Amino acid sequence: LQIPEFPPQNVTTDKTNIYFSLIIPTYKERDNIAKVIKILCELIEEFISEDYELIVVDDDSPDRTWEVAQSMMAEYPNLRVMRRQQERGLSSAVIRGWQAARGSVLGVIDGDLQHPPEVLAQLLRGIAQGADLAVASRHIEGGGVSSWSAVRRFLSRGAQVLGLIFLPGVLGRVSDPMSGYFMVRRSCIAGVTLNPVGYKILLEVIGRGNVGEIAEVGYVFCERQEGESKVTWKQYIEYLHHLLRLRLTTKQVGQKSSFPIGRFLRFGLVGLSGVFVDMAILYLLSDPTTLALPLTRSKIIAGEIAVFNNFLWNDAWTFADVSQRQQEWHHRLKRFLKFNLVCLAGLGINVLVLNLVFNFVIPNRYIANLVAIAVATVWNFWVNLKLSWRV
Ligand code: GDD
Ligand code: MN
Repeated sequence: LQIPEFPPQNVTTDKTNIYFSLIIPTYKERDNIAKVIKILCELIEEFISEDYELIVVDDDSPDRTWEVAQSMMAEYPNLRVMRRQQERGLSSAVIRGWQAARGSVLGVIDGDLQHPPEVLAQLLRGIAQGADLAVASRHIEGGGVSSWSAVRRFLSRGAQVLGLIFLPGVLGRVSDPMSGYFMVRRSCIAGVTLNPVGYKILLEVIGRGNVGEIAEVGYVFCERQEGESKVTWKQYIEYLHHLLRLRLTTKQVGQKSSFPIGRFLRFGLVGLSGVFVDMAILYLLSDPTTLALPLTRSKIIAGEIAVFNNFLWNDAWTFADVSQRQQEWHHRLKRFLKFNLVCLAGLGINVLVLNLVFNFVIPNRYIANLVAIAVATVWNFWVNLKLSWRV
């Protein structure tokens, strides 16, 4: 789907060129929509008088949100309503709205009042001062989430970290790449093919658009008062799909100097194989039905065999290029000893981070352990990369 370079001319109004078009994607927002429209129209008029339009893009909500919006068009002449009966989905709703928009600045805001309307003024100012893109962010000064659970915060941040690893050139450009509250100059995305995958349209805009300067404004993501969120586990899967797709279909600027993602993934897979080796040996040695050795002794042996397993795979696969250049036995042995030491230190870091996170950040031992494992994995990877294989 593409945004036209110039606004469409077949709109049945006198004005064909305006400054600002704001899209409100809605699905089952009957109890919010009237309030949202009223607040937004009044607020925008304060700043740019009549030079704007508000476009509600509703996916034929069964609660007839579109009908409520349409009934307000007489009172609010800058309001337009699209009722979509063929297509579905948040991202495609936003893009369809932009395609019909007449503004030279294109924005989007949720229709459930979770995005505070006051922030619009600062976003508009950011653009007026020269930014190509202005993003409302939960993760800078003045930003936050009102009362999210530890698990939800963790999932949200985890998704962001994953994205940063996969697509540093896209997610690294803003503090809140998951934001659904932003505005962008038409010229930055005109003529570019945007894929309406998933929920996170901002990733498409940054990944495929031609975005120079970016302004960010802090905001607190409010709790929903009416209706309910449409986010389910499906959106997480779609998000992964979206990351992969962007990764495969966009040019990665500065890829050479950035994080060696391929190596890291191989290293992670090898680490996972070590878990199975460790488990199997532990079973063989300590289980009452097998050798029935004491637990600690069994674990030390199992752990060391797992480390050996990981070393072999990493040397032959993850860092194949390096070991090919240095095949002599004393080189291999040296790498193995270093690998052992680094992993031992990694174990220490693992325990330390687990305790720190559990006691001071998230009082949930499994989440804390995941964080600890992640930190230790990155440590193991990075230090082995620099020390054992000297890449
Ligand atoms: N047209 C249309 N079609 N609208 C949709 C659809 C859809 O399939 N799914 C959701 N919406 C609308 C909702 O009605 C709401 O106005 C907005 O999109 C956001 O949906 P929510 O379900 O309320 O999402 P959320 O609150 O979990 O997350 C939102 O806020 C995040 C933080 O800024 C989203 O906008 C995220 O993209 C955003 O990052
Ligand atoms: Mn919401």
